[in-house]
Amino acid sequence: MRALVTGGAGFIGSALVRYLVLERGWEVLNVDKLTYAANPSSLATVTEKRNYRFMQADICDASAMDQAFSTFQPDAVFHLAAESHVDRSIASAADFVTTNVVGTYVLLEAARKYWDGQRPDAMARFRFLHVSTDEVYGSLDDGKFFTEETPYEPRSPYSATKASADHLASAWRETYGMPILISNCSNNYGPYHFPEKLIPLILLNALEFKSLPVYGDGRNVRDWLYVDDHVRALAQIVEFGHVGETYNIGGRAPMQNIDVVTRICDVLDTLRPGPMPRRGLITFVPDRPGHDRRYAIDPGKIERELDWRAEKTFDEGIQATVEWYLENEWWWRPLREHVYPGARLGLLPIKNDRLALPESVQ
Ligand SMILES: NC(=O)c1ccc[n+]([C@@H]2O[C@H](COP(=O)([O-])OP(=O)(O)OC[C@H]3O[C@@H](n4cnc5c(N)ncnc54)[C@H](O)[C@@H]3O)[C@@H](O)[C@H]2O)c1
Repeated sequence: MRALVTGGAGFIGSALVRYLVLERGWEVLNVDKLTYAANPSSLATVTEKRNYRFMQADICDASAMDQAFSTFQPDAVFHLAAESHVDRSIASAADFVTTNVVGTYVLLEAARKYWDGQRPDAMARFRFLHVSTDEVYGSLDDGKFFTEETPYEPRSPYSATKASADHLASAWRETYGMPILISNCSNNYGPYHFPEKLIPLILLNALEFKSLPVYGDGRNVRDWLYVDDHVRALAQIVEFGHVGETYNIGGRAPMQNIDVVTRICDVLDTLRPGPMPRRGLITFVPDRPGHDRRYAIDPGKIERELDWRAEKTFDEGIQATVEWYLENEWWWRPLREHVYPGARLGLLPIKNDRLALPESVQ
């Protein structure tokens, strides 16, 4: 198999590239712009492999995408390149609209041009997997779960751009008959996770006995998926999924944020005891604007139809993650010092104790 992976220098993309190159022996072309979220050192174990190559390019660049398809001749595309951090999308949505919406359009068009020019057997074999998020479904009440039939109700600039991209992917499937599939997954965690996201931020702050910021009352629920379980699911969808279908991928681990944070504290206290229990570092901070209350995925369809299951429980996954960060300071230290030192992102500016609105709407 020859797989073109976009965003392969990011968190999930690099896990996918390592899996395909090292464990599956696939030929992989990683197309990545190398934004702040990329980290080429996450690919250290594959860079010298003969079945891996890298192209630094923007998915919005149509001629670069045409070149990637025509020179590499992929059997499958895993489309992960995106701006992915909700807090950054609140601060400024422009890059999200450009990459997530326009970039997906450009990539779909390049894929269509390439696919249209293939022989019938190659056309039938080709697959395009668009990787999306459960956040497109909006926020859930207690006891409810997202299924593939849940209507879209994106509520943040990030999820709105991902929802737009999902609709483009579905439209290209229906209109042009392209062999496209979509996956919507829950929150990922695991090794090589950029330290601005909840789990690595809390883990590294706790390691250094810094305060542990928890948004709002800490009762928001996210459904956690170990990243290596996720990338197995993506390969399974490309190999065995039914064209035109959507698959929800989740680890059956919905948890309140506060429970995630206390679990990290307890694991660290055991592995690296310090002067005080780390739970004492927890600080509740103003909530994220429009913070969705609860996400929880019903992964029944992919479990039944593709025989995929998350292998790691949250306790196993978080133990493995904490151990990995303790053993791999070479990976995260430069990011903490030079790329993201830990400042709060995505708060609306406050003016006279009220939300500041642009002058045009005041
Ligand atoms: N991390 C999660 O928990 C999660 C959950 C659900 C869905 N997703 C989706 O999975 C995908 C991967 O997420 P992630 O957490 O690995 O993201 P990430 O932010 O860690 O990595 C994104 C990668 O895309 C690259 N990229 C960004 N803009 C680009 C452009 N214009 N052209 C080419 N490359 C570009 C970046 O350089 C980076 O390497 C995204 O599509 C995201 O929406 C992530």
